[in-house]
Amino acid sequence: MNKQQTDLQILFNAALDVQAKAHAPYSDYRVGSALVAEDGNTYTGCNVENVSFPLGQCAEGNALAAMVAGGARQVREILIASPNEHFCSPCGGCRQRIFEFASKDTLVHMATSEGEIKTLTMNDILPFAFEQ
Ligand code: THU
Repeated sequence: MNKQQTDLQILFNAALDVQAKAHAPYSDYRVGSALVAEDGNTYTGCNVENVSFPLGQCAEGNALAAMVAGGARQVREILIASPNEHFCSPCGGCRQRIFEFASKDTLVHMATSEGEIKTLTMNDILPFAFEQ
């Protein structure tokens, strides 16, 4: 296993750990996200739903919030773990959230419950992103 594969395995395992803690009683769709920040630390988040549906929070947003609270500001790579055999492609809002702390070539990995991984760049998933 080369270093990149090792890092990906660490991210995948971290995303699975946090996915198990998701609060998703309404959709029954548990998502886990793990990222490596520029400080070398791994930060994680799961989706947290609410009985008032629009208040629910996505896994990626919560991983980013953990990163910011931890004092880091730049995502090196991020992984999103789906609860089933289909990839969980980050929602539109989360693409812009990730972009806030990423660059165009930041890697965004999507993993299925079977361990299949698709890797795209930030620019692939959010071309022509809004920037001030
Ligand atoms: N969800 C995420 O956590 N990340 C995404 O990128 C897509 C959707 C969550 C929101 C909601 O709790 C559940 O998945 C079903 O939409």
